[in-house]
Amino acid sequence: MKRVFCFCSVLLLLLIPLAGAAADAWPTAQELFERDPAPDVPLTCDPRIDPLIVLVNKQNGLPSSYEPELIDLKLPHKPGVATQQMRPEAAEALSRLFAAAEADGIKLGVVSGYRSYGTQRAIHAKKVAQRGRSAELTSAPPGKSEHQLGLAVDVSCASISYRLNAIFSTTPEGQWVEAHCAEYGFIIRYRKEWQEVTGYKVEPWHIRYVGPEHARLVTALNVPYEVYMEYMQLCWNARSHMPVSE
Ligand code: DAL
Ligand code: ZN
Repeated sequence: MKRVFCFCSVLLLLLIPLAGAAADAWPTAQELFERDPAPDVPLTCDPRIDPLIVLVNKQNGLPSSYEPELIDLKLPHKPGVATQQMRPEAAEALSRLFAAAEADGIKLGVVSGYRSYGTQRAIHAKKVAQRGRSAELTSAPPGKSEHQLGLAVDVSCASISYRLNAIFSTTPEGQWVEAHCAEYGFIIRYRKEWQEVTGYKVEPWHIRYVGPEHARLVTALNVPYEVYMEYMQLCWNARSHMPVSE
């Protein structure tokens, strides 16, 4: 009896990680393409060079000279933080998101918007000096931050003193952002289960503007943006090789 119990326990211990892995799995870009090679999303040029959906991560950087058009965010922000800026499309969408949140009784605050290459270099150097190599899991090196695109923003709320902490996802404000940000064109870019792909720990406060059509599809597919953009590339390649109709 004891031996059977031992055998079952060992089997269970071996199977639990496998079950976890299966639950965390998401489709590959190829699988997404096979399921739907022509999703109803705007693809007006090669996704690698479309400034609104371009992938920026540790492997795909921006030149130090990259500076988007920017406007001031006229929105509530963390006390003591200067007025932040974003690209006009993202700033307008964020204003609509904040207004909708407020209508639902949710008060959000901007913490950080656009960051130049130089600002990101200073932030990253400071974090590395404070935390060593573990800083690489929370702070992007210069040229590798979505904040340089002017399309990413960090938001938080008064109940957690506007901290950028994983606890944000447990607040009503964080849950509202998670449930509604796609309607306004934003995606939650860094989820816990995607760390291997994104290279960053979970950041429920960091939202990236990609436009409502893409945001809704990324969110519905529940895949890392890296996988989504690989999928978009396959769609673009297939589309651009299609014969032009007369
Ligand atoms: N915290 C994100 C990864 C950034 O530094 O852009
Ligand atoms: Zn951020």
